[in-house]
Amino acid sequence: MSESRLLNQALRAVLSGQPRAAADRHRPAWHLAPTVGLMNDPNGFIQFNGRYVLCYQWNPLACAHGAKFWGQWSSADLVHWRHEPLALAPAEEYESHGCYSGSAVDNQGVLTLVYTGNVKFADGGRTAWQCLAEQQSDGSFRKLGPVLALPEGYTGHVRDPKVWQHDGQWYMVLGAQDQQLQGKVLLLRSADLHDWTLLGEIAGSRVNGLGDFGYMWECPDLFTLDDSDVLLVCPQGLPAEQYRWRNTFQSGYFCGTLDYPGVQYRHGDFHELDHGFEFYAPQTTLADDGRRLLIGWMGIPDGDEFAQPTREHGWMHTMTCPRELTLHGDRLRQRPVRELQQLRGQETQLRGIAENLPAVDIGSAELELTLTGSCHFSFADTLHLSADRHGLTLRRHNLRSGEEETRYWHGEVRQLRILCDRSSVEIFINDGDAVMSSRYFPQPEPRLRLTGNAQITLRHWRLQQCVIE
Ligand code: FRU
Repeated sequence: MSESRLLNQALRAVLSGQPRAAADRHRPAWHLAPTVGLMNDPNGFIQFNGRYVLCYQWNPLACAHGAKFWGQWSSADLVHWRHEPLALAPAEEYESHGCYSGSAVDNQGVLTLVYTGNVKFADGGRTAWQCLAEQQSDGSFRKLGPVLALPEGYTGHVRDPKVWQHDGQWYMVLGAQDQQLQGKVLLLRSADLHDWTLLGEIAGSRVNGLGDFGYMWECPDLFTLDDSDVLLVCPQGLPAEQYRWRNTFQSGYFCGTLDYPGVQYRHGDFHELDHGFEFYAPQTTLADDGRRLLIGWMGIPDGDEFAQPTREHGWMHTMTCPRELTLHGDRLRQRPVRELQQLRGQETQLRGIAENLPAVDIGSAELELTLTGSCHFSFADTLHLSADRHGLTLRRHNLRSGEEETRYWHGEVRQLRILCDRSSVEIFINDGDAVMSSRYFPQPEPRLRLTGNAQITLRHWRLQQCVIE
């Protein structure tokens, strides 16, 4: 479809849908969410000329997956965001079924997007092109078209380019599925972003002694943190176990060493990035001040998403809060970026036995607490967190089936930092050793109630609203 028709349709969807979406009580007060329609992966996350840019997979036309656009926001401080012109609309033949996920680089002062043109055929087949678009002086993006076709030996599922520079060369990782239906990560090199050489597979199912590890790997991201080369990736098809891999699709990481000339990535075990119900497709960037920042999608593309009540209001999903990553041994630690503290209002402190404490407001709030002993947190009677000597258990009723579902974290719980925003809860455990991120859909004025005999010290802040400009 022509670009101007697509843009007209998107404009009409925003104009007609925005009032209903904005009136939804589940809309976040300070997390990023789409004006209307369905948002999924963060894309093109970069600090460019000092300002953060974050694009996102977006179907403005319906609360459904489909031919994705790239929406775009920017921010000076990771807290206050403003809408920017739509970055990409799926107008060309090589992207007819979506401008799928990808990344952004600073190519000699030009903000350049590298993304996947997704194409589906009438006979059920599909292909994928890796494509470029360059920012113009008026802020819009000029498409340069495909720079890479499907490599031989892989199905039509090759996507989500993440590009970075190393020793004067550009490198790309791609998520892929090979002809034997095994998920992989491919490494490619280019001198100019246009001409790419496939170097090989650096990780995947049946690679590096991993055994069977999923039929497709999506959204890879590779970066150096301290002395380690960290690979984030989303494997699809890991069978759920009693205490791990319980979401339909996983999002996790490996730590290791990438030997660029030898095209070998030696890595350790796969660790989940988040132990909550909703977390997928995160993307990182290196900030000017040296911090490695991550934003994830607080959603999972598994169909259960369509039972979320915001769909009735014409919008779906939010991003996680921006997080700073640090490495401790072979484990990543995630903490909300310090800039978010700007949102804090007046502080209230509570101390005592859990069940004696008054309920606290969690509409838009931050809690920091230390605990010794067992206790139970009820988030508006909708989401339940139990802390005992084994660790944490998070429970809720599945919105589609009504059945109880649980997620776990094992370890000694000493401290929790909880960010609540209308319909989401992000629980940072022991100063970021682990995180549980989840959506929930409470009645108005949600409150947190504690029970149990744990000794608690609690700090509470209401967080200010921060609408996208
Ligand atoms: C992950 C994903 C990506 C793809 C995009 C399409 O959620 O499936 O692999 O590029 O979403 O919206």
